[in-house]
Amino acid sequence: MTILDIIEKKKIKAELTTEEINFFVEGFTNGTIPDYQASSLLMAIVLNGMTDRETFDLTNAMLHSGDIVDMSHLGGTVVDKHSTGGIGDSTTLALAPILACCGVYVAKMSGRGLGFTGGTIDKLESIPGFNTSLTEEQFFDVVKRVGCAVIGQTANLAPADKKLYALRDVTGTVNSIPLICGSIMSKKLASGSDTILLDVKYGSGAFMPTPEQALELAQKMVQIGTLAGKRIGALITDMEQPLSDYVGNTLEVLGILEVLGGKQNRLYREIKEVAVRLLVLTGKFDAKQAENAFQDAIDSGKALAKLAEMVQAQGGDASYILHPEKFVLGTEEVILASEYGYVDQIIAADIGRACTHLGGGRMTKEDVIDFSVGVVMNVELGSKVCKGDVLCRIYHNGKGVEQARQLLVNAIHIGDEPICTHKIAYAYVDKNGVELY
Ligand code: URA
Repeated sequence: MTILDIIEKKKIKAELTTEEINFFVEGFTNGTIPDYQASSLLMAIVLNGMTDRETFDLTNAMLHSGDIVDMSHLGGTVVDKHSTGGIGDSTTLALAPILACCGVYVAKMSGRGLGFTGGTIDKLESIPGFNTSLTEEQFFDVVKRVGCAVIGQTANLAPADKKLYALRDVTGTVNSIPLICGSIMSKKLASGSDTILLDVKYGSGAFMPTPEQALELAQKMVQIGTLAGKRIGALITDMEQPLSDYVGNTLEVLGILEVLGGKQNRLYREIKEVAVRLLVLTGKFDAKQAENAFQDAIDSGKALAKLAEMVQAQGGDASYILHPEKFVLGTEEVILASEYGYVDQIIAADIGRACTHLGGGRMTKEDVIDFSVGVVMNVELGSKVCKGDVLCRIYHNGKGVEQARQLLVNAIHIGDEPICTHKIAYAYVDKNGVELY
């Protein structure tokens, strides 16, 4: 068997055997298959897809490429949440402390930016001193003491995904149902939590363009997780526009601090939906109790204090959480509306791409991120604007400003008619089936 034969086979849409999939995953993980051949096979998978059996085998091979973490020693319910990625999707930063305040453990391994989307780990690293590379012992110590911790994927947890994720990020091979399923489910099954809520996004800022495709991905992941004995559910949520008004690493931390401070915007509503579903999924809460626990965590200020506690426990400077004015941002520029009308389309991926041009995301694996840049939206879908109104603000340090400006001008479309906006969620799916909103 050679990798070339496997690439040729997928090129003509043939089904790969379990052995061939294992050969690829093992060979790429141990370095015998180089990036260029892996990229070629990944592109063939993006273009020609995989059967359910191949997707299951891919997930299984990636899961067994490293260690499987046992969290039973924590002695409580351990929950996890994973988003398929979007623009301004900083929900983990709020969910971890909120859920910890509700009495469940959150031991979360998160990712870096992928394609045009931002990553939780990059956002957390914008807090001075915050360490996302704790040892396993330190990680569990923080989880036990604080109730939540968020770190990057450890070297031993689904290492196949760690390498493939970085390669897919820079080779245009992200948007594929089998590759996303393998990537997410290998990590979720390896990371040892017992209750998992997947947030599967659709729209112009997501890897799945339509709610139907997002539902298909969600159903596959829920099926694999249920088979593995997890309590697992998936929300299909709207990413037709940035989830938060803030897009960029430091900026998204600022957006989360507003939500934990009580601001009830779209980001807040989605965080609430995910938290309540997840708490109900644990079997320890009914919907009303989950909602009350969520509300109390925010209204009492306990969730904000818990975030500061987590930041401190992970080596970060918690004074930034309590005094957000300490964060440094780039120079501000505005983009103005050129006409009167209603915002009827936002190409959310281009807001993410604009952020990458400013230095807030990676174009190559080696790129170093500038945390202080990004975009703040002043409008959302449906907003009424007059000529000269501010549509958004750019924060920059001189890099990529013109490209970002061009992308943003074209990404926010103003039409003549008011529009109806989507609900936060399209559907929820678990082992009992699909519930449409
Ligand atoms: N998030 C992941 O962890 N993997 C993907 O492939 C997409 C989103």
